[in-house]
Amino acid sequence: MQSVIHNVHPTIDKYPATLRILHWVRAVLILGLIAAGFTMTELNDEITAKFDLLYPWHKSFGVLVFLIVLAQLAIRAVSRLPAPAPLPAHEKILSHVVHVTIYALLLIVPLMGYAMSSSYAESDGVFFFGIHVPELLPKNNDNFKLFQLLHKTLAYSLLALITLHVAGALKHRFLDKDPRTDVLPRMI
Ligand code: HEM
Ligand code: HEM
Repeated sequence: MQSVIHNVHPTIDKYPATLRILHWVRAVLILGLIAAGFTMTELNDEITAKFDLLYPWHKSFGVLVFLIVLAQLAIRAVSRLPAPAPLPAHEKILSHVVHVTIYALLLIVPLMGYAMSSSYAESDGVFFFGIHVPELLPKNNDNFKLFQLLHKTLAYSLLALITLHVAGALKHRFLDKDPRTDVLPRMI
């Protein structure tokens, strides 16, 4: 069943190099976006860098992450992946649920960011490193508030899941002390 869902291969012991590189590039971008998002919303509106620099860069890198995740999912779909590590059943299920939910949030969080910026009546627009991304949603500040709440809540939920994900990877490496369940080398 597992091999039907994933294109897994028992003799492969690492993710393909493209997926490994994208995993770490994306990890840095996501953590940067969450730190920047938190910082910029806390800043006083009088600070010019807030709307001139931080907001546009946050949006550009947010759109970039969305594109990276699409590329990653496409590459993943056609790649030969290592078979799941021989973890106890409950850990196998937990890690699978966490990975799938992380992927879902990696798509939904930037979409909610775009929907928020697109529907806000006084928005400066969405720019992707200087390219104007069309704002497709009608301007409506009630909808904006809903998208803003979803963007914020889901971004911090993503952070909580990433923390759990990293704790899991570190547990397998440093507490379990079993090379068969140490999954870190598969992603390095
Ligand atoms: C923003 C941060 C991160 C995100 C969003 C993220 C997300 C993911 C996702 C979705 C997968 C599943 C890969 C797949 O099957 O397609 C994965 C795998 C993995 N990640 Fe992360 N990750 C992050 C940071 C980290 C960090 C900091 C570590 C190490 C401490 C790590 C270690 C791993 C390992 C070892 C795997 C492979 C798991 C396995 O083969 O069973 N990740 N990550
Ligand atoms: C994975 C990608 C993204 C992550 C992880 C992320 C994360 C965050 C976080 C943590 C905040 C701070 C929320 C708060 O404390 O109030 C924030 C704010 C914001 N994000 Fe994102 N974001 C992403 C993508 C985007 C995209 C693609 C856009 C727009 C195109 C965007 C637009 C905004 C805006 C406008 C704010 C400020 C909201 C306000 O003023 O209340 N974000 N983001």
